[in-house]
Amino acid sequence: MTDKVRLGFIGAGWWATANHMPVLAAREDVEMAAVCRLGRRELEAVRDRFGFRFATEDYQELLEQPLDAVVVASPHSLHHTHAKAALERGLHVMVEKPMTLRATEAWELVVLARARDRHLLVPYGWNYKPFVEEAQRRLADGAVGAIEYVMCHMASPIRGLLVGRDVADVAGYGGLFAPDARTWADPRVAGGGYGLAQMTHSTGLLFYVAPLRAARAFAEMSAPDSAVELYDAISIRFRNGAVGVVSGAGTVPAPSGFQLDVRIFGSEGMLLLDVERERLEVRRRDGRAFTMPLHSGDGAYTCVTPPNRFVDLIRGLSDRNNSSGEIAARSVELLDAAYRSAVSGCPEAVE
Ligand SMILES: NC(=O)c1ccc[n+]([C@@H]2O[C@H](COP(=O)([O-])OP(=O)(O)OC[C@H]3O[C@@H](n4cnc5c(N)ncnc54)[C@H](O)[C@@H]3O)[C@@H](O)[C@H]2O)c1
Repeated sequence: MTDKVRLGFIGAGWWATANHMPVLAAREDVEMAAVCRLGRRELEAVRDRFGFRFATEDYQELLEQPLDAVVVASPHSLHHTHAKAALERGLHVMVEKPMTLRATEAWELVVLARARDRHLLVPYGWNYKPFVEEAQRRLADGAVGAIEYVMCHMASPIRGLLVGRDVADVAGYGGLFAPDARTWADPRVAGGGYGLAQMTHSTGLLFYVAPLRAARAFAEMSAPDSAVELYDAISIRFRNGAVGVVSGAGTVPAPSGFQLDVRIFGSEGMLLLDVERERLEVRRRDGRAFTMPLHSGDGAYTCVTPPNRFVDLIRGLSDRNNSSGEIAARSVELLDAAYRSAVSGCPEAVE
C-alpha cells in the first residue's frame, strides 16, 4: 500500500455523496481514486465534486484500477456481486447494509474476506456509539448471565422512501442527488422493504452486542400501500435456545425520529438499550444495577465513525470492527429466513 489508502466507490448516489465521500475525502491519508455509478452526467458531477481521477459506469473497469479498498453503496440487490468482485481482487471492502440479500451470499463474503485477510465492514452507525459499545462490553462480561429472551424493536420515518413517493425529501439530509426511488421501493432492486432497509440496523446492533445466531424464524409482514413491506413481526428461536421478537415499522410520522429499543433478559438479569430515549441500564437479580449517564442527542443517528474506522483498520490504526462481515451475516441470515417465512407462512430455518 502507498502512503494513502486508494479508495474506489461503486455506487455514488444519495448516501455515498451525502456521507461516505465527504467523510473520507476530508482525510489526508485517503486518495479518492475511482468512482463508478450509472448515468454519465451524474458520474461527472461526482468526479468534479470529489476530485476522483478515474470515473466509469462499469464496476469491473473500476476494479482494474490500482486500488487498496472499495466502498460499495449500490442498491441492495447488487451488494453481493460488487463486494465479492472487490474481495476477489484482494481489496478491503466496506459494503452498505444489508450486506447481501441471502445468507449463503453473506457467509461467502465473510469466508472470502478471511481467506484473503481483508477487512470487511458494514457501516452500521449506531454500533459505534459509546453507550452501545458499553452495552456490548457489559453483556460480554456476563451482565445478564445466559441470554434467554430478546426484544428488538425499530421504527423509522421512511414511508415515502418505501412507497417510492417524496424520495427527494430525504435529499434534505445532503448529497448530490435524491435516491433513485427503485433503490428503496422496487422489490426487484431493493430485495424487500423495511426489514432489509432498516431492521438490518437493529439486528446489526443486536448481533454486535449479543453473541447470538438465529436458528429459525416465523414472520408476518404487510405492505398496506407499497410494493415492499412496511411492517415486520418476526418470532425467533436462537441457536442457544433463547427466543425473541424482532419488530419493525417504516411509518413513523415526521418530525418524530428513529426508535430502536433492545431489551435482553437472561439468567441473572436484564439489559435495556434504547437509542431513541438514550438509555443503557442493567438490572440484576443479585441487586446490582448500572445506569449510564446519557444526554439528549447521544443516540441520534450518525455514520461518521464507520467509514473512518474502515480506513483506520486498513492502516492499522485500530483493530476494532464493531460491524464486521460476520456480525452483518448474522443479521442477513435472520432476515433471509424471515422473508422466506413471510412467503411460506411457516417457520423457516436459517440456511
Ligand atoms: N448505513 C446507512 O446509514 C445508510 C443510509 C442510507 C443508505 N444506505 C444504503 O446505501 C445504499 C445506496 O442507497 P442510496 O439511497 O444512496 O441509493 P441511490 O439510488 O441514491 O444510489 C444508488 C447508486 O448505485 C448506482 N448503481 C445502480 N446500479 C449500478 C450498477 N449496475 N453498477 C454501478 N452502480 C450502480 C446508482 O447509479 C447510484 O449511484 C443502499 O444499500 C442503502 O441501504 C445506508
